[in-house]
Formats: sequence, structure tokens, C-alpha cells
Amino acid sequence: MAILVIGATGKTGRPVVDALAARGAKVAAASRNPEAGRELPDGVTPVRFDWADRTTWTSALEGAEALYIVGPYAHPTGERLVADLLAEAHDTHRVVLLSVIGAELLPVEAMMAHWERAVRASGKEWTILHPNWFFQNFGTGFLPSLRDRGVLQLPAGDAPVSFVDTRDIGEVAAAALTEDGYAGQVLTITGPDSLSHGEAVAMLSEASGRPLAYKPVEPEQAEANSRAAGVSERTIIAQRGLFQVIRDGGNAPVTDVVQRVTGHAPRSFAQYAAEHADLWRDATNSTN
Ligand SMILES: NC(=O)c1ccc[n+]([C@@H]2O[C@H](COP(=O)([O-])OP(=O)(O)OC[C@H]3O[C@@H](n4cnc5c(N)ncnc54)[C@H](OP(=O)(O)O)[C@@H]3O)[C@@H](O)[C@H]2O)c1
Repeated sequence: MAILVIGATGKTGRPVVDALAARGAKVAAASRNPEAGRELPDGVTPVRFDWADRTTWTSALEGAEALYIVGPYAHPTGERLVADLLAEAHDTHRVVLLSVIGAELLPVEAMMAHWERAVRASGKEWTILHPNWFFQNFGTGFLPSLRDRGVLQLPAGDAPVSFVDTRDIGEVAAAALTEDGYAGQVLTITGPDSLSHGEAVAMLSEASGRPLAYKPVEPEQAEANSRAAGVSERTIIAQRGLFQVIRDGGNAPVTDVVQRVTGHAPRSFAQYAAEHADLWRDATNSTN
């Protein structure tokens, strides 16, 4: 079965591609710049796909019997595009959508509700993934602040979050894309423990041997900082919802989905921190 992975260069897309390749699946790895991509595993073909350029959709979708979708979260009219894509996906009978834990509590600006509705109404076999926040944020988006200033500041309070490794998300997605038995399911994917951001940063500090701190900020201050940095109003509203869900405890539950689907325990944050300890040591390291 040929599987098109949208967002194949991203935090979940890469491990989805890797997990599918490990299963021997035929994979098309979609990116706006496929020629600039990493060396891909055997059986994986790079293809050009841009949510903002519909002329790329037809050839990317050709022969794609299953689809992994990272939605157009940064597109100004992204709420409509998943439905539009699925209407053009004539060869596709199975869809796995990346959403987020607590999606049902988010404002419409987060767009997840639109995408989930589109997938459910598509007439295709669908599975919706509700992962918690990724370990890998600490090595990408959160990295500059941690590495350069030794501090992470977020409006997450001290609420617990069952952060998850995107490699586990990749394995769950690969199972849902290639095996029967996941149609019509919403899978809430979490790590093995609930940690506050402070506890997580303390583990990075211990692994890297460098003092690092988490400082909660007030939501209003975080929004003012985002506005000053030129972040769009829509993204600010979406972020407001995401952090509200965290502060309300919505990201705390731990599920058995990784164990149940993959047959192994979810990776731990301590393991992730130890594997990537160099990232947080000094300013010369790049992202993982
Ligand atoms: N970060 C978290 O903790 C977390 C947790 C749960 C859910 N999510 C959800 O995961 C999604 C991805 O967020 P992320 O920050 O983790 O990003 P990401 O997946 O690491 O990176 C974005 C991916 O989207 C692709 N992309 C961006 N614009 C595109 C476009 N116009 N057309 C086609 N592909 C495009 C990029 O590919 P190219 O640059 O190669 O084109 C890249 O592969 C969001 O919907 C977010 O809500 C995130």
C-alpha cells in the first residue's frame, strides 16, 4: 500500500516515515522542498506538496491509498483545506490525522475541530491522533531560550503534562496507517509520566549538567511578548487555548495507547533527555 506522509520533515512526520519504512511500506514523504530533505530510508520517495499551492496536490495524491495529515496550521484559511484535500484524494481509503489532546476544548482558531470534522465526514476509514505535547519541543522550539539563556518561560503554570516522544507517535501512526482495527478511533497518545514544565526542565538540567530553569509567566504577559514578536492574532488565540487546557489539567492524563498499539512502554522523558543532553549544553548545538 502506498502511503503519503504530509509534514514528513516535521517532528511527527519524520518518525512516521521511519516507522512505516521499518514496516516495509511504500512511502511518499511530502515537503515543500523535497530536494532539500534528509537522506530517506529505503522505499521512501520525496514528493513536493504545499498546502498553499493546489497545483502540487494532484501528483502528490496520485496512488496514495493512505494519508498521514499534519494540517495547514500556519495557513490563513487552513480550516477549509483538509476537507478540500480529502475531496481530491480519490485513491485514498484510509486517513490518519494529527490533532492534539484536548482538541475539543480549543477555540476554532486552532483549526483542529474543522480538520477532525472533515476527516470524519470524508467517507474514508479514519483515525484521529490526540497526542500530548512533544518531548521534541524541548530540542526545537524551546531550545534557543534554554540553550542561550538557560530559561524556559511559558504560561503553563505548574500543571502536569504527560509529554510524549514523537517516535512513539510515529509508531502508533504507522500501525493505524497499515493495520486494520483502528478505524473510527481517537487515540490519545501520552508518555509514561505526568511532569510539570519545571520538572521536565530540571531533568534536562541534570542530563546536561548545566543549570536550567523554568519560569511560569502570566498568560497576558506571554501574549504581549508574542504580539511584540509579530505572531498572528489567530495563533495567539490558538496558543491561549492550548495553555489554558494545560493549566486546567487537561494535559495530565496518562493513557496506555503506546503500550497497547506498539507492544512496548512509551519512552520516558529521562531517556529523551539523556539521549540529547548535548543540545542544552552550549550555544553551538543545533536542533534534533
Ligand atoms: N508541538 C507539539 O507539542 C504538538 C503537540 C500536539 C499536536 N501538535 C500539532 O502538530 C502540528 C505540527 O506542529 P509542529 O510544531 O510539531 O510542526 P512540525 O510537524 O515539526 O513541522 C511542520 C511540518 O509541516 C510542514 N509544512 C509547513 N507548512 C507547510 C505547507 N504550507 N505545506 C506543506 N507542508 C507544510 C513542514 O514541511 P516542509 O517545511 O518540509 O514543507 C513540516 O514538515 C500542529 O498542527 C500542532 O498543533 C503539536
